[in-house]
Amino acid sequence: MYPITYPGEKVRMLYSVEAIAARVKALGEQIAKEYAGKDLLTVGILKGSFMFMADLVRAIDAPLEVDFLGVSSYGNHTETSGVVKITHDLSCDIEGRHLLLVEDIVDTGLTMRYLLDFLATRHPASMRLCTLLEKPSNARSEIEIAYKGFSIPNEFVVGYGLDYAGRYRNLPWVGVLEFSLTSG
Ligand code: IMP
Repeated sequence: MYPITYPGEKVRMLYSVEAIAARVKALGEQIAKEYAGKDLLTVGILKGSFMFMADLVRAIDAPLEVDFLGVSSYGNHTETSGVVKITHDLSCDIEGRHLLLVEDIVDTGLTMRYLLDFLATRHPASMRLCTLLEKPSNARSEIEIAYKGFSIPNEFVVGYGLDYAGRYRNLPWVGVLEFSLTSG
């Protein structure tokens, strides 16, 4: 069993290290091709995207810059409220630049809707979204996803940067969090 365990919780593997790496490589190649000759600024949405972002930018064989936007959504642990708090703003001016937002997961889409509207007021030349995961069955806001790793069922996933109550972010793969009455 993987060493990261918490009493009463289990993680069932959904995407292995190898499956994620292969998908990230393909996304990176596509992004490099489509942004050739453009002033690309990749913006990682913290905290969940930190691992995906680190792998993705290494898979983009083209000039780019990196920035981060810290975000936390109010609400309980497994459901978003759509009310977003900016915990860390961008460190550079985005006016006239081509932004690629890098997100861990789009669930209802409410967080991303808020961020796209928020960043649009700063007049970037373009804004597109790259997300590792999407739960299409849960969509409550129409969000255009330019680059997507995987579509997943409506289950709560952890690992590869994604957390449950701050835990599991360091799990190197993505799995479904399952609760059991007995631990172990
Ligand atoms: P949305 O606003 O419903 O699209 O939710 C987006 C945010 O909720 C993501 O950036 C995650 O931080 C969190 N989230 C949604 N679903 C999951 C999940 O299955 N595991 C971990 N975090 C999730």
